[in-house]
Amino acid sequence: MSLEVRVEHDLAGLNTLGLPCHAARFVAPSSEATLSEALSLAQQEGLAPLVLGGGSNVILPSRLSRLVIQPAMNAWRWLEQGDTPRIEVDAGVVWHELVMAMAGRGLWGIENLALIPGHCGAAPIQNIGAYGVELADVLEAVRVVSLQDGRAGWMSADECAFGYRDSLFKRELAGQFVITGLILRLSRRATPRLDYGDLAQRVSAAPTPLEVARAVCATRREKLPDPAVLGNAGSFFTNPVVPRAQADALRVSYPDMPQFPQPDGVKLAAGWLIDQCGLKGWRHGHFGVHDRQALVLVHHGGGTAAELLELAEMVARRVEQRFGVTLQREPRRIIDPG
Ligand code: FAD
Ligand code: EPU
Repeated sequence: MSLEVRVEHDLAGLNTLGLPCHAARFVAPSSEATLSEALSLAQQEGLAPLVLGGGSNVILPSRLSRLVIQPAMNAWRWLEQGDTPRIEVDAGVVWHELVMAMAGRGLWGIENLALIPGHCGAAPIQNIGAYGVELADVLEAVRVVSLQDGRAGWMSADECAFGYRDSLFKRELAGQFVITGLILRLSRRATPRLDYGDLAQRVSAAPTPLEVARAVCATRREKLPDPAVLGNAGSFFTNPVVPRAQADALRVSYPDMPQFPQPDGVKLAAGWLIDQCGLKGWRHGHFGVHDRQALVLVHHGGGTAAELLELAEMVARRVEQRFGVTLQREPRRIIDPG
């Protein structure tokens, strides 16, 4: 099938923050062959390619003079059955649909990652995580296609250098590859991970993966705003990891501060820090701090990226002034090369 190219394409409905944005060109290749056509088009027209998934972790400018490529290959297949099945998943598969399909088949591994918005191709970028599980726990390999020369290959999970909300794709390899597929290893053996929050109280004594996935969905719906109703990109900042000595000093002044020891320091809850600054429900123009989860910035409609970034800066400054802790943004800010 040949490539359909859209001109001055409206991306307002393709990013969960609901920011207004028009892209010079937009394509949704449904195979690696049509992806290759898209990369040739980008070269011919001198447009820098930008890969977009479900748009749930991006801050878009109002105009993008780029070729936006949204991978649309959307199937998954068994590579191996047995006790620890392996599956290959295309980039365009909706992550949550994959989670429910696997949990529904009685397979363990990704049930705690239910209801994370977005497509499978984006999942390795920040190594999606929730409720004590990260993609890296089940990921074997990532299929990549170079945006420069179209060459395809596989990268092992080790080569991706995953960390908390981090991978090489956010650093050294940023903007260099399209991820077109993933290989995941799951398990038929019951391995529920119920340590986070009140998850254990929400399921039976011997839960199925589907039961766990549904409990995760219920918990998430209580806290996180639905982007279809209120624009947002999930957590706007990552949880800061600070040196142990700094965490100890903070605990003296704030004995209730949630702290989570890590191998490289102590993770603090950015939502708690923002909440303590009295910013929950705070509004700045068309944006605000969510009234149930202070780590989520929400778009009430009619705003632009500049205004959102202004609010984010104010929030980060207040946290820095009060706690001496620097917050880092989680969603990727997309820049227009002009
Ligand atoms: P996009 O937003 O489209 O893209 C994100 C980045 O990845 C961009 O830089 C883009 O260029 C790049 N990219 C996308 N697809 C590809 C590809 N195929 N190849 C190469 N680069 C690509 N995240 C968590 O980790 N845990 C959570 O619990 C969580 N909860 C959320 C809740 C809500 C309500 C929302 C709105 C977001 C949440 N997120 C969470 C963030 C987000 O869902 C994840 O980061 C998700 O993986 C982004 O997927 P996407 O397809 O929407 O990516
Ligand atoms: N908290 C407050 N006030 C708030 C928000 C949180 O006091 O307004 C406190 C909570 O009471 C809790 C702690 O902060 O003690 C942590 O809160 P929560 O369990 O809601 O998790 P989080 O740290 O805010 C992280 C991820 C989420 C993920 C959940 C569940 C990051 C940046 N965020 O949120 O991921 O779904 O844990 O695992 O790590 C995302 O990345 O977009 C995202 C939503």
